[in-house]
Amino acid sequence: MNNNKIIIFDTTLRDGEQSPGASMNTAEKLQIALQLERLGVDVMEAGFAAASPGDFDAVNQIAKQASNIRVCSLSRAVERDIKAAGEALAPAKYKRIHTFIATSPIHMEYKLKMQPQEVIKRAVEAVKYAKTFCDDVEFSCEDAGRTDINFMKEICDAVIEAGAGTINLPDTVGYRLPTELSKMVSEMVEFINNRAIVSVHNHNDLGLATANSLACILAGARQVECTINGIGERAGNAALEEIVMAIKTRQDIFAPLYTDIIAKEIYPSSRLIASITGIEPQPNKAIVGKNAFAHESGIHQDGVLKHKETYEIISAQSIGLEQNSLVLGKHSGRHAFKDKLVSLGFDLDVDALNTAFDKFKQLADKKKEIFDDDIRALVAEEITKIPQVYEIVELLQSSGGSLASASISIKHDDQITSDSALGNGTADAIFKVIDRISNINGVLKDYKVTAVSQGKDALAKVDVKVEFEGHNAVMGHGLDIDTMKASAKAYIGALNSYLRIKDL
Ligand code: KIV
Ligand code: ZN
Repeated sequence: MNNNKIIIFDTTLRDGEQSPGASMNTAEKLQIALQLERLGVDVMEAGFAAASPGDFDAVNQIAKQASNIRVCSLSRAVERDIKAAGEALAPAKYKRIHTFIATSPIHMEYKLKMQPQEVIKRAVEAVKYAKTFCDDVEFSCEDAGRTDINFMKEICDAVIEAGAGTINLPDTVGYRLPTELSKMVSEMVEFINNRAIVSVHNHNDLGLATANSLACILAGARQVECTINGIGERAGNAALEEIVMAIKTRQDIFAPLYTDIIAKEIYPSSRLIASITGIEPQPNKAIVGKNAFAHESGIHQDGVLKHKETYEIISAQSIGLEQNSLVLGKHSGRHAFKDKLVSLGFDLDVDALNTAFDKFKQLADKKKEIFDDDIRALVAEEITKIPQVYEIVELLQSSGGSLASASISIKHDDQITSDSALGNGTADAIFKVIDRISNINGVLKDYKVTAVSQGKDALAKVDVKVEFEGHNAVMGHGLDIDTMKASAKAYIGALNSYLRIKDL
């Protein structure tokens, strides 16, 4: 075992997906999975296979397509979950089952209603059963941060004996401080004594997830679980980009420790996750926020112009953030477009490339300046597209006075149906027509418009969250120069997503 390498375990597709509003479809997850592979992540938690048929399918598809990365599925310490994880992961070249059970007194008493010895027995059975599907099994003591250390040693001893190769100690509720976790991890590292890899998984409820993870690494943890942009349950997880760049930038403290992350893929990964989930990092977010490299004060600008390092500890280029340069225009050809895609990390087959190029040309006719972010958004829209059960053919809208109206033609089963409606605003009218034509009622839970790049003619990206027929809300995304057309595309995208999940 190389004791200086920090294993990066990315859980964007599992814990990250637990962020409110971040649910993704299989095509979107696949795209992220391929980007995580380019980023150089060691283990990718692709989902929780037993959670739903959609989750099973996503883990299974990723397992089929990932080539050089270990694919993992989460499972509670119950047979049904472990079986689903094992079956979904079956096609993977490298795989891991991650099973967990809560070990803190409060969780055992109130949530599990189990005695500590029963919890140990269940954990051991789970690890043994998981080993029948794959050799690499990780065990997590859920709520390790509030677990009695002697009990933790007892259960870890038992699961290592049963075959767990990684022991994960999550601060599930984001309660602990760096000094406390450092003490816990060093005691556990000493106790485990190289019989398994010690991993940490920190939540950000007190804004300490990154600091806690770094303290744990210095205390001997050799795997860290994290997500891109820090997305995750409640206040999120430790952010991959922060941990990796801290280790890289502060080699005076961390050497000889290192990660195998390709730093130049950090920014493209962050943009892809933001554009797919619709969750933008806060502007002042470390490393990937819009302002992370913006120097506003005159004194700072002057300093940076004279010598970059006066105020910059990391270069924007090192994380793959090139200037948002004007890239292509309407005279650019297919070759230049393809080169641009390659430089942005996209790998499209001929059909997808042709469609993306056509869309680029249509956009270039309407928009003078096309930026990297425009191209990223166009291509992300193309590759994550799900089957268009319903498709907008035409949209006419008008507003004025107290009501707005929308007339829409929609294609479904090779038939075109047109209808119109009035609404309190154009978006309301559009959504009403779509509900009426599809005969499926949606309740809009969230609606967000963002400008993809800059300029008055910027592309609008609309993200909606819609609840159809009382089922769990689904996300939809739409991209267009016209905000209302983007809204219609987003809403119909959510409807198509819902129909797909329903069919699984
Ligand atoms: O936060 C947590 O405890 C988890 C476990 C399931 C690993 O996400
Ligand atoms: Zn978690």
